Amino acid sequence: MSKQITVSAPGKLMLLGEHAVVYGRPCIVTAVGQRMRATIELADEPVFQLNTPDVQVVDYKKPMSELGIGDIPKGAKFVEIAIKNFSEKYPIQGGVKVTTSSEFSSQFGFGSSSASTVCIIKALSEATGATLDNKAIFNLSYKTVLDIQGKGSGFDVAAAAFGGTLYFIKGGQTIEPLQTDSLPLIVGYSGIKADTVTIVNQVLEKAKEHPEVIEGIYDNTGKLVEQAKQAVLSKDWQKFGELMNENQKLLEKLEVSINKLDNMILAARKAGAYGAKLSGAGGGDCIITLAPENRIQAVKDGITAAGGQIIDVKINAEGVKIEHDTK
Ligand code: PMV
Repeated sequence: MSKQITVSAPGKLMLLGEHAVVYGRPCIVTAVGQRMRATIELADEPVFQLNTPDVQVVDYKKPMSELGIGDIPKGAKFVEIAIKNFSEKYPIQGGVKVTTSSEFSSQFGFGSSSASTVCIIKALSEATGATLDNKAIFNLSYKTVLDIQGKGSGFDVAAAAFGGTLYFIKGGQTIEPLQTDSLPLIVGYSGIKADTVTIVNQVLEKAKEHPEVIEGIYDNTGKLVEQAKQAVLSKDWQKFGELMNENQKLLEKLEVSINKLDNMILAARKAGAYGAKLSGAGGGDCIITLAPENRIQAVKDGITAAGGQIIDVKINAEGVKIEHDTK
């Protein structure tokens, strides 16, 4: 008897604290309205089958006993290792058929890999009756991301699993929902694809050369995230914007910003934003900015004139959820 389950999980945007969060300081992340979707079906034959047309993986197949072994196409890695990790803890009888699709381009840096990992673990948990809670889904998904990338704080996995806006410490040591429904956020995409692991490694090299300086930058980042948490709670967007600008200065010291991002950020500030910064590892992807109601259009126009593309983003989105279940 086949059970088909469709699950979705949100992408994410880092609001403050990137890089420092890899080294134990807190960050603030929000889940975005754009979602990843995965449909899974348990099959009698012990074979893993995958279709993710968004990343050109079509009819990928291998025996369940060979999960994680041999060359794995880039677009299949997170799904395959997620199933492997799940089945090592909660044995799966037979095989698994998976189809994934995305509401957003993997180019934006919204965390499509982490969101699809979370979808797979959640779907398997339901299909097999293991019924993991969100923290257990986070743990297995974070292990999957680390198995593949070797690095990462897990903030993106937390956003996909829990949703909302979170105050987060590496590895899920703290995952604290922050009540906010009205963050007036504008997102501008640079058109440049950034590779997070490469940039995290560049910062690591820099930290080896100048450990005190970089640790100091991380400490200051951690302090401003604490202040930003208070600003979110009191909806003090002016203050939050100032802290975004401070955070951007620290990211510039880490040398992860690039001209295109700097130009978009300056344009947003000039047009009257409370503050603006890059979001994520840097080197490309997106900027985020907060603006008062009467400056929103001017800020969007400024970002567009600087070569950015405005992306419509709803923040505070719901975490992983079952869309459809024919169990
Ligand atoms: O590039 P993104 O959006 O995946 O963000 C990376 C954020 C880092 O702090 C640099 C890495 C991490 O895992 O926290």
